[in-house]
Amino acid sequence: MKGMKTIMNERDSTFILQVENVCKSFPGVKALDKVTIQVQRGVVHGIVGENGAGKSTLMKILSGVYTKDEGEIIFDGEIVEHTTPIQSLARGLSIIYQEFNLVNTMSVGENIFLGRFKEVKGMKGTHEKAKKLLEQIGCSIDTHTMVSELSVSQKQMVEIAKALSFHSKLIIMDEPSSSLTNDELKGLYKIINDLKKEGISIIYISHKLDEIFELCDTVTIMRDGSVVDTKPIAELEREEMITKMVGRTIEKEYPERPDCVGEKIFEIQNLNTKKLHDIHFSLHRGEILGLVGLVGAGRTEIIRAIFGADKVKGHEIWMSEKPTKIRDPRDAIAAGIALVPEDRKLQGLILSQSVETNIVLAVLKKYVKFGFLDKSVKKQIAEKHVEALTIKTPGIKTKVINLSGGNQQKCIVGRWMETKPEILIMDEPTRGIDVGAKYEIYLLMKKIVESGSSIILISSELPEVLNMSNRILTICDGKISGEFNPEEVSVQSIMERVLG
Ligand SMILES: Nc1ncnc2c1ncn2[C@@H]1O[C@H](COP(=O)(O)OP(=O)(O)OP(=O)(O)O)[C@@H](O)[C@H]1O
Ligand SMILES: [Mg+2]
Repeated sequence: MKGMKTIMNERDSTFILQVENVCKSFPGVKALDKVTIQVQRGVVHGIVGENGAGKSTLMKILSGVYTKDEGEIIFDGEIVEHTTPIQSLARGLSIIYQEFNLVNTMSVGENIFLGRFKEVKGMKGTHEKAKKLLEQIGCSIDTHTMVSELSVSQKQMVEIAKALSFHSKLIIMDEPSSSLTNDELKGLYKIINDLKKEGISIIYISHKLDEIFELCDTVTIMRDGSVVDTKPIAELEREEMITKMVGRTIEKEYPERPDCVGEKIFEIQNLNTKKLHDIHFSLHRGEILGLVGLVGAGRTEIIRAIFGADKVKGHEIWMSEKPTKIRDPRDAIAAGIALVPEDRKLQGLILSQSVETNIVLAVLKKYVKFGFLDKSVKKQIAEKHVEALTIKTPGIKTKVINLSGGNQQKCIVGRWMETKPEILIMDEPTRGIDVGAKYEIYLLMKKIVESGSSIILISSELPEVLNMSNRILTICDGKISGEFNPEEVSVQSIMERVLG
């Protein structure tokens, strides 16, 4: 105890967290290289950096999921030599992971108070308290709902509520906002600001730089496992931040809008479900069609119906003027439709398999001859996409589970690009992707349409849809509420139709 006191006096007590020269290596990667960061009490401290920069690794060390190789961590005035997730929670450090950490087969309430039912006086207390926490962040999910039934954004809200339930001194949020609606996001901002007033610190990791500027007091920029700079947000310009993140100057965040719209190749009519009402639209060759709507408005349902992922009856689809039946995803793929899904973990990636396998998965059949797989072709395809999408990995044989969040995502994008589909549906294709790699994905989208395919782009990031689409449809309450030419429309008028 005496030793700790001395340290506390030695160290500046204005800091809740001091990380000094922390290093961490994985086979083939130096994930953290002498990282030094100091987080003050009662501030929002942003951390930005490219996919694979080491942000999540550092947070996992702080929370006791990984052990550091070297360096020193001082939390709340005490040296933390070794910690486990449970100990760090007890010490007052909570983390909301980039990938969800919830039990799908349990209810929302049970998840929030998992292992602490006695503390909150049984199931009744669990649900009452859980409800309050959720209400606090403007979320009205029934706490008895199974987590498996929640949307991505709802799961994230549960994660946030769970973190709040621990009365933490430092809450780490690793891309907490990536799938929240504007309202939910405002709710989150409000909560974060309230926490700040109570002296709680937040570490906020995000690829959405607007959020960093709006929310954070201080920002640390990381690149390739090292800290490049830490500055008060007021002293940092957007350009400087981007340049420091990617290590080079990026002139534009978007390429020029593709301009190659041809004849009609797809049409859907009479799409009706419990949630959708009379959805009908068409798509042209070489067109990027943007679908804009709030989370829950029906965007995902529309594309799941087109892809045959949900059983829907009564709607009609034409591909190149020919009536086409799509009863399941197999029909869709046969018709030339591919889907980059929103929730990549659940619907796309096989985490225990290699980067190579995940990328070639959708085209494997093509390369099997007489029962044998042409390994060199497989390798070529995988390497091509690793390069084109700048997937950061020690090699194509690395298991996807060991890649950073954004790099996992790029693997799925690569997989579907390889199928060279007539229509590529992209649901939030740049979520969790850093600015530099976003630009690469936009360029690839452009190449795809220029080669004669078409894209349906679903995105919550309005600037992305405005800059990349040839046409925009707004979705509100399961209906198409407007159609716009992005070159002539204002954000204001789109938002009016999105909100209904
Ligand atoms: N368990 C692991 N085994 C092997 N390598 C790992 C492991 N976890 C992370 N890495 C590697 O460490 C590096 C840093 O990854 P990390 O997840 O910290 O990046 P990040 O900054 O959070 O990126 P993103 O923005 O994509 O989430 C990457 O090269 C990643 O592949
Ligand atoms: Mg990460």
